[in-house]
Amino acid sequence: MTVDRRRFLTVLGGASLAWPRTVAALAQNLDAGGQADDELFWSVVRGQFLIPNDRIYLNNGTLGPSPRVVVDAVTEHTRRVAETRPPGVSWDDLKASLADLLGGSAAGFVFPRNTTEAMNFIANGVEIGPGDAVLSTDHEHVGGLEPWKLITARRGARLDIVSLPHRARSSDELLESVWRGVTPDTRVICVSHMTFTTGTILPISALAARCDDRDIVLAVDGAHPPGMLDLDLDQVSGDMYASSPHKWLLAPQGTGLLYLSASWRERLWPTLASGGWDDLSLGAHRLNHLGTIDESRLAGLLAAVEWAAAIRMSRVEARVRYLRDMLETGLRSIPNLDVVGAREEEQKGGMVSFALDGVESSVLQRHLSRVANVRTRVIGEYDYGWMRLSAHVYNSPEQITRVLDLIDDAARNGIPS
Ligand SMILES: Cc1ncc(COP(=O)(O)O)c(C=O)c1O
Repeated sequence: MTVDRRRFLTVLGGASLAWPRTVAALAQNLDAGGQADDELFWSVVRGQFLIPNDRIYLNNGTLGPSPRVVVDAVTEHTRRVAETRPPGVSWDDLKASLADLLGGSAAGFVFPRNTTEAMNFIANGVEIGPGDAVLSTDHEHVGGLEPWKLITARRGARLDIVSLPHRARSSDELLESVWRGVTPDTRVICVSHMTFTTGTILPISALAARCDDRDIVLAVDGAHPPGMLDLDLDQVSGDMYASSPHKWLLAPQGTGLLYLSASWRERLWPTLASGGWDDLSLGAHRLNHLGTIDESRLAGLLAAVEWAAAIRMSRVEARVRYLRDMLETGLRSIPNLDVVGAREEEQKGGMVSFALDGVESSVLQRHLSRVANVRTRVIGEYDYGWMRLSAHVYNSPEQITRVLDLIDDAARNGIPS
C-alpha cells in the first residue's frame, strides 16, 4: 500500500465511512505472505466473500461476486443519500485510485455501466464514413462487436473480420492474424485484450505501435484483464479501452470503465450530451456528464479498487494464474478432452476453455450444476461449443480438484441422463 493510498483511506475514514477502515485493517492483516500457494493467506481472502460454502463458482468471466466490503460500501452510500448526508465518494478520489491500481492517468477515466456501453461510446464517438473499414475478429463478444456492426451499417462503412487461431503459439502469431486483415480502408481496429472465448491475451502494445504508424485507431475490449492481471493501462489501452469492473475487479453489477488515452480526451464525440459536452477543458470528464446516475455503484467501485490494492494486484494475478494452471493441467490429463487456447503462459490469464469429445458442453454444464452446484459458462457463440472455467481468489484448490474429478468421471463413464 503506498503512502498516498494510506493517506487517502485516512481521509475517507475521517469522513466517518466504515468501509475504508475495514480495507485498511485487511491490508495490515495481509501485509506478509500471499504467494500463489499460500493457502492460509488465501483462506483469509476467501473469508471476505458471501458465496455459500456449497457453491463452486467458476464463472467470474461473466460476473464477479463482490466481497462483503464492496456490498457494504454500496449500502452505506445508499443510506447516506437517503439520510441527505454527504455520500462520501468523489470522482477525483475514484480516478486517482484507479490510476494507482491500473496505471494510466486519472484524467482518462469515464464511468459507463459496462463494457457494452463503453464500446458504444467509442463506436459512436469516432469519425467513420462511407468506404471506411473497421477490422475485428471472430473471437469478440457481442458487447464489443455489435456497436461496430451498427455504426458501420448506419454510416455506409465496412466491417472486416479476421480469424484468430484457437490455439495460438505466440504473440507474433496473434499479431499477424489481426494485421493480415488491414487494408488501405482500415480506420479502426477493435480487438479484445483477452478473448472471452479461450482467455487468450492479445499483444496490444505491439498492435498499438503498428496502428500508430498507419494512423489506425485501436479500440480495445478490455472486459477481463482489470482486476485479473497486474496491468498498466499506459501499455495496453490502445487509443481507448473499455472494461467491466463488475467482472474481475469484483465491483457492483453495472459498473463499467472507459479509459481514453491523452490524444482522445478532447477528441471523442460524446454519445450522451449534457452540460459541458463541448467544453474541451474537461477532457474525458465531458463523457461523465450523464445526468443523475446511481453513484452507489461508484462507491462500490472505489471500495473494490481499494480492496484489490490491499491484497495487491501482483499477488492476485499470481493466484489467478495458479488456479487456472491447476485447472488446465488437470483438464489436459483427462481422456478425450481437448483444451483450446494459447500454448504459452504469456498469452494466458485466468480462463480456460475445452470440449469433451461426444459430450455437449451444455449437458456437462447441467451435470456439474446438478451434482455439485458448480457454475460454468458455455461458449455457444460462433458455434464454438466450448465450456469455459474461470477461477478467482475466492476459489480453493479443493474446489478445483472436485470439479476436475467430476469432469474426469464424466469423460470415462458418461453422464447419466
Ligand atoms: C470480452 C467481452 N466483452 C464484452 C463483454 C460485455 O460485458 P458487459 O456485459 O459487462 O457489457 C463481455 C462479457 O462477458 C466480454 O467477455
